[in-house]
Amino acid sequence: MRKFEYHNPVRIISGAGEVERLGKEVAALGSSALVVSYESYDFMQELLHQVCKSLSTAGLKVDTLYKVVANPLISTAEEAIELCRNKKIDVVIGVGGGSVMDTAKIIAAGAKYKDDLWNMFYSRHDKFDNIPPTEALPIVTVPTLPATSSEMNCAAVATHDTLAEKAYVAAPCLYPALSILDPNLLVTLPAYQTACASADALSHCLEVYLNNTVNNPLQYRHMEAIMLTIIENSQQVLKDPTNVELRGIQQWTATVAWNGMTVPGTDGFFPMHTLGHSISALFNIAHGHTLALMMPAYMRYNYQHNTERYFAFAKDVMANDTNSGSLEEIILKAIDQFETYLNNLGLATKLSQLSIPKDQLEKITQESIKVYGDADELIGNVKPLNKTDLLRILELAY
Ligand SMILES: [Fe+2]
Repeated sequence: MRKFEYHNPVRIISGAGEVERLGKEVAALGSSALVVSYESYDFMQELLHQVCKSLSTAGLKVDTLYKVVANPLISTAEEAIELCRNKKIDVVIGVGGGSVMDTAKIIAAGAKYKDDLWNMFYSRHDKFDNIPPTEALPIVTVPTLPATSSEMNCAAVATHDTLAEKAYVAAPCLYPALSILDPNLLVTLPAYQTACASADALSHCLEVYLNNTVNNPLQYRHMEAIMLTIIENSQQVLKDPTNVELRGIQQWTATVAWNGMTVPGTDGFFPMHTLGHSISALFNIAHGHTLALMMPAYMRYNYQHNTERYFAFAKDVMANDTNSGSLEEIILKAIDQFETYLNNLGLATKLSQLSIPKDQLEKITQESIKVYGDADELIGNVKPLNKTDLLRILELAY
């Protein structure tokens, strides 16, 4: 088990209809609020109206910024930061999925940040030594997509408008003060987004689970429980999308999959996310879908470097009989079953199915190394991956 520190101060309120408490809860944090949400908000109009009404009824001054796009832009946060400073906003509220919640965090920290906003970001192409934010306005989130766990972690991702680079920031001041998880807000989520959200949440555990050799049984069992629940719940919720009980399970499982509780005492590598981010950036494919594309191929390429965890995956996650067949047969069968599960969610697991040209695989590897590679151009993994390894994984995914 590795040394670790763990702290998570996020207050969670979970339950159907709990979003109605928003105004009263935010009033305890300040007297003015900025509500942040999507640029195209027709599908959220009723919810945003309800949110603003709840806030103004509780006596808050309310401003809104409905300009967030998928792969949120720094310029959107900068505009909102100006507004926060001019109007002396006390609390920033993100109502939406990961893009919205992340933007709300960047705005809240940016309002108190003295440097150029881009300087707070890690993983930039220029390898700038970032200056993390140390304080932020209180952040409140109301997730409408059960995927990223932004509602209970201290990370945010944004894209620089002119450099077209996607980078992340993580700092303790970015933990929301409060997140309200209301499953009523998920019942209209379309099947594709539901599937992508499940694949993303699952991958947050799978990356850590397959990339560790440390003796940390509690964490492995914790991740197995989360993955089992996501696999079971995702199939149920696609058949019964308006079932509030199932949506509540879906939301909380996604939240705990990446709220930091899976990782204490483990190594953290995210090779599948590395490739997935590059595919998203180059071909505008939903984040969760890129993980579905990468997971089976990555597993087939890497299992020999950590057979113990892959065997455990076959036995304890895919619930297979592991008493017959060779180790390799048991592992490969489990990966095949896992791929079938993803396909049954409606997600392609081959790049060719999404018409990504084969001659672009090299470009995906270059982008991955450029953004996430270390000084030796290696990507963190149980056995570090070089450019050739990445290319092989992409070829297996084609
Ligand atoms: Fe993710």
